[in-house]
Amino acid sequence: MATSKTIKNPAQSVVETRYLVMPHQANPFGTAFGGVIMSWIDMVASMAAQRHCGTEVVTASIDSLSFQEPVRIGDHVVLLASVNYVGKTSLEVGVKVMREDPITHKRIVATKAYLTFVSIDENHKPIPVPPLKPKTDDEKRRWNNAALRVKARKALRKQVQANNS
Ligand SMILES: CC(C)(COP(=O)(O)OP(=O)(O)OC[C@H]1O[C@@H](n2cnc3c(N)ncnc32)[C@H](O)[C@@H]1OP(=O)(O)O)[C@@H](O)C(=O)NCCC(=O)NCCS
Repeated sequence: MATSKTIKNPAQSVVETRYLVMPHQANPFGTAFGGVIMSWIDMVASMAAQRHCGTEVVTASIDSLSFQEPVRIGDHVVLLASVNYVGKTSLEVGVKVMREDPITHKRIVATKAYLTFVSIDENHKPIPVPPLKPKTDDEKRRWNNAALRVKARKALRKQVQANNS
């Protein structure tokens, strides 16, 4: 059982899953609804966050998403989620969404997403998350980039709050 003191590396909580796009998940032109992909992103990211924290987690925010490639009925959609960064009670999870051709297995990145989760206790109160120790160069790069996004998100929230008060 993880405690808030157990140091983990990102590889320990990686989640990979795949879905097959069905007709009811697509628009009349045969491409998947963005909202369907978004729900898969939230699901896979929350599992990675939960694996890292060893607690219940809630989605605090999802950064803006841009869909670079259409995903069509019959495509396999591969989602890879890993924890990029941890704060005190929150953590950022990055998700790479790839469209995979079912015959050739060729993969193309369709979109990337960054989600923030908060670890919560049984009273729904934020609690400390276990520390994260990036090991590989890629993990260190993701940590550094996530730290910039965390800073930017906090500054934006503060500014909006000040404007509204
Ligand atoms: C997310 C939630 C637990 C935060 O509670 P809170 O009392 O505002 O907590 P705090 O202000 O102490 O912030 C806790 C952490 O979350 C981060 N956080 C809060 N709101 C955030 C947001 N909108 N985006 C990113 N991070 C956020 C803070 O930076 C802080 O991180 P840190 O401890 O690592 O520094 C609370 O707003 C909540 O329960 N929201 C609803 C979540 C939900 O139901 N999600 C499902 C989708 S409907």
